[in-house]
Amino acid sequence: MSAATGAVTDALRELHARFADVDEGELADYIPQLALADPGAFGLALISMDGHCYSTGDAGVPFTVQSVSKPFVYALALSLLGLDEVSRWVNAEPSGEAFNAISLEHGTGRPDNAMVNAGAIVTTALIPDTPVAPRFGRILDCLSRFAGRRLDVDEEVYASEAATGDRNRALAYLIRSTGPLPVDPVAAVETYFRQCAVRVTALDLAAMAATLANGGVNPLTGDTVVSEPVAAQVLAVMATCGMYDSSGDWLLRVGLPAKSGVSGGLIAAGPARFGLATYSPLLDPTGTSVRGHRAIGMLSERLGLHLMYNPALAGSTVTLVTTADDLPAAPTGERERVRRGRVAVAAAQGALDFTAAERVLYALDEAASGRTGAVVLDLVRVTDIDTVARAMLRSGLARIADDGRRTAVADPDGRLCGPGDESGGPRRFGSREEAVTWCTETVAGPAAAAPRPNTP
Ligand code: DON
Repeated sequence: MSAATGAVTDALRELHARFADVDEGELADYIPQLALADPGAFGLALISMDGHCYSTGDAGVPFTVQSVSKPFVYALALSLLGLDEVSRWVNAEPSGEAFNAISLEHGTGRPDNAMVNAGAIVTTALIPDTPVAPRFGRILDCLSRFAGRRLDVDEEVYASEAATGDRNRALAYLIRSTGPLPVDPVAAVETYFRQCAVRVTALDLAAMAATLANGGVNPLTGDTVVSEPVAAQVLAVMATCGMYDSSGDWLLRVGLPAKSGVSGGLIAAGPARFGLATYSPLLDPTGTSVRGHRAIGMLSERLGLHLMYNPALAGSTVTLVTTADDLPAAPTGERERVRRGRVAVAAAQGALDFTAAERVLYALDEAASGRTGAVVLDLVRVTDIDTVARAMLRSGLARIADDGRRTAVADPDGRLCGPGDESGGPRRFGSREEAVTWCTETVAGPAAAAPRPNTP
């Protein structure tokens, strides 16, 4: 194992060692087959956005997915029907109640959210069921694509829940009696039991969580399982409702979208960072794995993973704000040096989104103040510009141009100005020095003849 990847595995191993002896909690026994689980089983797995897998303990031991299936079936429903249609039948409000409570809106009977059983049963019912594409087939395909491998059903656990699941059937009858649903939750409850009996490992769950964290693209297979907006919608509901009546406390202390299941699975997703999963079947009274909760809580605290804590971008976007006379260049005369002093230069690096673009624009304003006659924006070390940042930067540069200053960008890969996009936008060059040279000539006087832009 290399030093770098060993550090991540070590963090997981340390958590495993720290909590393996915790024997608090109970096995779920209202589904009799779940009471046969090994109470000592404990596995952890983490998968990065690059598809790097780290695991320790019983991360390859199979168990049934149970409620951890709910966000993924919700994702399928959102993909097939859209948020507005799904929300007509399943709300997105935290219930503050146990997973099997009668969490139904007064008057309409609409379940509070898709993470509690009532909402999950309706969500399953909303998945279209046709002879060519049966409901359960669609669900199993979707869960498998999230995991990146073909999953199957633990028939014994399914039979066990089907034989004892009267509370869920009662919920389904109650929902059917209260609302004008276009689908039949009573018929769908058996499919919901099958969905809960799909067999996974902690590594599978980490891949599923990582797919949500990665904007719907499975980092192991490259498969786009759901769209980016759907992945974000699911993570939002996991953040507010995924841990049932302890969702608020979980978000406060752990700070990650998460979902628990009564067989002992627990997932957490760090958006754009990682998918994390634990397996340990001893549960607290809310139906959450005791060791899993502690391990994920400690990992979040130690590695600074809380969603509301994001120091990552501070100071790292803008790398330079200066004038061109301060830059290394071929020796020039005094006249040339003075002209270079009137060319402002700002450089940025990394991926530019709204927050980063605001920093760049601020730097451009700073750079363009005073007696400068031209502004160069150096994007050579920028790796990506999203649509919002592109629009912001283009309009910011246009304002500088409207103010009477020449604008040029060093943008060899055409991230800000694509090929054939020269008109109206800033002039594009392949390097900072070419952009500076052109600006230096133009600040000398009006209408200096411009060389052809470098469009590699
Ligand atoms: O519907 C049930 O009761 C189970 N099949 C799943 C419940 C569950 O996993 C709750 N989560 N902690």
